[in-house]
Amino acid sequence: MDTLPTMHEKLAKWVDEIKALCKPERVHWCDGSEAENAGICAELVAAGTFIPLNPEKRPGCYLSRSDPSDVARVEDRTFICSRRKTDAGPTNNWMDPKEMKVILNRLYNGCMEGRTMYVIPFCMGPIGSPIAQVGVEITDSGYVVANMRIMTRMGTAALEMLGTEGDFVPCIHSVGAPIAAGQADVPWPCNAENKYIVHFPEERSIWSYGSGYGGNALLGKKCFALRIASVLARDQGWLAEHMLILGVESPEGEKTYVAGAFPSACGKTNFAMLIPPESFEGWKVTTVGDDIAWIKPGKDGKLYAINPEAGFFGVAPGTSKKSNPNAMATIRANSIFTNVAMTPDGDVWWEGMTKTAPEGLIDWQGNPWTPGSGRPAAHPNARFTAPARQCPSMDQDWENPAGVLIKAFVFGGRRSTMLPLVYQAFNWVYGVYLAATLGSETTAAASSAVGVVRRDPFAMLPFCGYNMGAYFNHWLQLGRKIVDPPRIFGVNWFRKDKDGNFLWPGFGENIRVLKWIAERANGHGKGSESPLGWMPRYEDLCWKGLEDFTEEKFKELMSVDRTQWMSEILSHDELFIKLYERLPKELIFLKELTLSGLWRSPQHWEFSRSSFDPTED
Ligand code: OXD
Ligand code: MN
Repeated sequence: MDTLPTMHEKLAKWVDEIKALCKPERVHWCDGSEAENAGICAELVAAGTFIPLNPEKRPGCYLSRSDPSDVARVEDRTFICSRRKTDAGPTNNWMDPKEMKVILNRLYNGCMEGRTMYVIPFCMGPIGSPIAQVGVEITDSGYVVANMRIMTRMGTAALEMLGTEGDFVPCIHSVGAPIAAGQADVPWPCNAENKYIVHFPEERSIWSYGSGYGGNALLGKKCFALRIASVLARDQGWLAEHMLILGVESPEGEKTYVAGAFPSACGKTNFAMLIPPESFEGWKVTTVGDDIAWIKPGKDGKLYAINPEAGFFGVAPGTSKKSNPNAMATIRANSIFTNVAMTPDGDVWWEGMTKTAPEGLIDWQGNPWTPGSGRPAAHPNARFTAPARQCPSMDQDWENPAGVLIKAFVFGGRRSTMLPLVYQAFNWVYGVYLAATLGSETTAAASSAVGVVRRDPFAMLPFCGYNMGAYFNHWLQLGRKIVDPPRIFGVNWFRKDKDGNFLWPGFGENIRVLKWIAERANGHGKGSESPLGWMPRYEDLCWKGLEDFTEEKFKELMSVDRTQWMSEILSHDELFIKLYERLPKELIFLKELTLSGLWRSPQHWEFSRSSFDPTED
């Protein structure tokens, strides 16, 4: 391109600098057009990175198979390089920014040789929204460009929003695989030896090297919209959260927006797209976002949220017509599937999509597969990338630049024991406590061991760009400033009985919990007080259409064993000691208060007398 598509001097200068460092063969400024996308997809097909899917079954869709070593976010290679170590805090990997830059400059020197360097201007949030922000990602991966086009508002519109002076977050990405003269490329270039996902919070820049996968490479998502944005939010008095946003509307037309934080792969996308069962006639759930929320106090002092993303990067396995019909409709067309299995007629498949696997599958690594193969057909962290506008449940205000008014925050982990289906924090500080001590059994979204409980405060452990103790304090401070703070709830969809069966049917039936949450948030839901907070009694939930869910079963689901609960609270010390340096005192006091309350639980603890009977002591 002879003439630059921007008059933004700082941007042009930065692109020149990166070009001089990375030495690509050519530079391409992305405009985000259909024609550009068609060209890039054709190149990806020619390179073997994309396999076009059956145009009748999945029009405009592609399958991509990653290198088997590059299948998930790499948390142990993710760094927050603030000037002071304490500002990154004990939950983040840290390195001195100067030292890190020496390493990065060496790695990036010539790292794009033989490749195209794409410049992707993108906007996180609806174009023109006062809550939205612009970033520019430089990448040597066409796969990243195609995904960013779905996940963000990318191209000319973002560049126009930037104007000649606007602020942008510079994001640099390289797969770290230069092509020497005469050398052939591979379908999924990446760097097996070196991976670095680096954030400079003071400089507000991102450098990612060596991986082409998801959150490592689509820098608008976890890197910008969470890690860098959480720092901006702290400095500017707002919240950048790992939260879905949904709307729930009663038959009377009472509309309530809820933001919910769940650790990775806890069914957030399913919850965000929930379809109530037929018995819940007149109730409607609408989707604003499934992963990230940017939440700001409005002029009225209340909290308003936008979804900074324009697409879904969802976990494919487990997604089915039963678990999430809206997601299945969304991925019908114009979507990218990564590391799923392929059917002989050019469609996709993954574990949990149907009860039995179709015959003649090719697995995520391109090998023939049968149910007897002894390995999954799709990688457990296989993903779909799909445009949000294709989702049938999108809320009418999902692109409203002003955002939607948030009335409730919901925090939920994957806990097979102890934690009840739902409870409401007594107040904001208690809510911050319950969010800060959120724990979840791990899954495949992060490349760590599967099935162990790890503390994941606010579901932000891998995504907070600064000291987690200071982050808790930011939440406490904000709660003091806002008008009519949203009510805070804990949920657990994953409780099991002693035989290992889930106690709660989940999915669409979660509307029963959502209804209670909305009613409580609007000040007219009934509940009873317990040592954990307010809880619904059996008669406070609507059981129409689920009459065989007996009161006895409900009590099992809601019961909290006092001894277990006490040791859970005591176990919070592990996190608190780790964060001691910046831990707000409020949380320590609250822990003591909660413990002392447990020695003598309130008389009106109703439905788990056996566990909390005060006469037991
Ligand atoms: C995600 C995650 O990909 O949280 O959304 O890991
Ligand atoms: Mn997520």
